[in-house]
Amino acid sequence: IPAEFDDNAIVIIRECAFKAGLLNDRYSQNLRFITEPEAAAIHCMKSLKEHNLSVGAKFMVVDCGGGTVDLTIRQLLEGEKLSEITERSGDYCGGSFVDQEFLKFLERKVGSSAISFVRENHYCQLQYMIQEFCRKVKMKFTGVQSEFENIELELDELCPVLEQYCKGEYRDNMEEVDWTINLKFDDVKKMFDPVIERITRLIDSQLRSCDNDCSTLLLVGGFSESKYLQLKIKEKFSKKVQLISIPPQPVTAIIKGAVQYGLREEIVSTRVLKWTYGTDIARKWQQNDPIDKRRDDGLIIAFERLAKRGTQIAVDEKVHRAFLACDKTQRKMGLDLYVTPQDDAKFCDENGVKTIGKWSIELPDSLNDNDRSILYTMVFGNVEIQVTALNSGTKELFKTSFDLDM
Ligand SMILES: Nc1ncnc2c1ncn2[C@@H]1O[C@H](COP(=O)(O)OP(=O)(O)OP(=O)(O)O)[C@@H](O)[C@H]1O
Ligand SMILES: [Mg+2]
Repeated sequence: IPAEFDDNAIVIIRECAFKAGLLNDRYSQNLRFITEPEAAAIHCMKSLKEHNLSVGAKFMVVDCGGGTVDLTIRQLLEGEKLSEITERSGDYCGGSFVDQEFLKFLERKVGSSAISFVRENHYCQLQYMIQEFCRKVKMKFTGVQSEFENIELELDELCPVLEQYCKGEYRDNMEEVDWTINLKFDDVKKMFDPVIERITRLIDSQLRSCDNDCSTLLLVGGFSESKYLQLKIKEKFSKKVQLISIPPQPVTAIIKGAVQYGLREEIVSTRVLKWTYGTDIARKWQQNDPIDKRRDDGLIIAFERLAKRGTQIAVDEKVHRAFLACDKTQRKMGLDLYVTPQDDAKFCDENGVKTIGKWSIELPDSLNDNDRSILYTMVFGNVEIQVTALNSGTKELFKTSFDLDM
């Protein structure tokens, strides 16, 4: 799944797979999820081994797709395992943005309203023209002047309806050239350059985030096949990183990595938390707390951090915390789980704090303090967070689970 998909998306895909009859059981472990950057990294391990990358070496996977470009830096661990060592970054600057630049170029020839009309009323023809542009121009462009052959695009064949929407001076000019557009080297280069510029900036800032301690760049995704993109990335980064490598068929790297993952799930051994996790605790109101949050009993409900974003967490790693009920009359302890994109939060109703799930456990009617002391454990699994709460006095064990959005 794309890295930005949330838990809801996972639930929907699982439901679809179940309804399509691919699963006997809705919650079957035979369907597992992995994010695209994780899958890409797994696939790239094979080429890393071929390049004799040593244990501890860091490498960056740049997935250049149609819409998005995703970057992650990882480290090769003992036993062919991988860890994610920086948070992922990404932006909308994939290969389709070159197509957008091509359309802008066309707008300057036929007028932007003509292109808008075609987009609204004859989307198929527009798509066909873009597809032909990709096939004849984008995929062949190497960025080397001597290898470039001038290209003629016959608009009356590629997009016949264009003629009827092209008006005024644009029309006169187009008629003069018989609806043929000539693409020169510089025209094509200008379509690529703004997109590539954004990609190299992303790589640059990701490299800086690890103090340039990254020995390899791996390019995957369809747009990575572009010879010009490869050339520009090599030009800019070959002094900073030792190896820039494009695995064979970079467009299938993700699907292959996902299959490898299914066969050997433990490969991705650590991930970096993208949220800070916390629960709500009742504590004594203090002088610097907001007065409106003070309850009649003199307590205040605060956000208690359990795990901080940016922390490396291995699959199945445990986080422990001890909680004590506030007073002897308390019969329930609320242990709702919250996330925030910030490093910490003070209160659960703050901006950015989201509820992941509600949960509470029973406390016994007992005067013994031990019976109100809870050992709370969170286990960060592959797709779920399993939570247990053990009452230290009564030894009663409570369990629940929450979806994990890595
Ligand atoms: N040889 C090539 N040269 C240049 N661009 C190419 C080449 N082959 C494919 N592309 C471009 O790569 C893009 C598709 O890449 P890919 O299949 O990785 O994208 P995606 O995974 O569908 O998109 P996203 O990751 O954004 O969701 C398209 O823009 C396509 O035109
Ligand atoms: Mg993709």
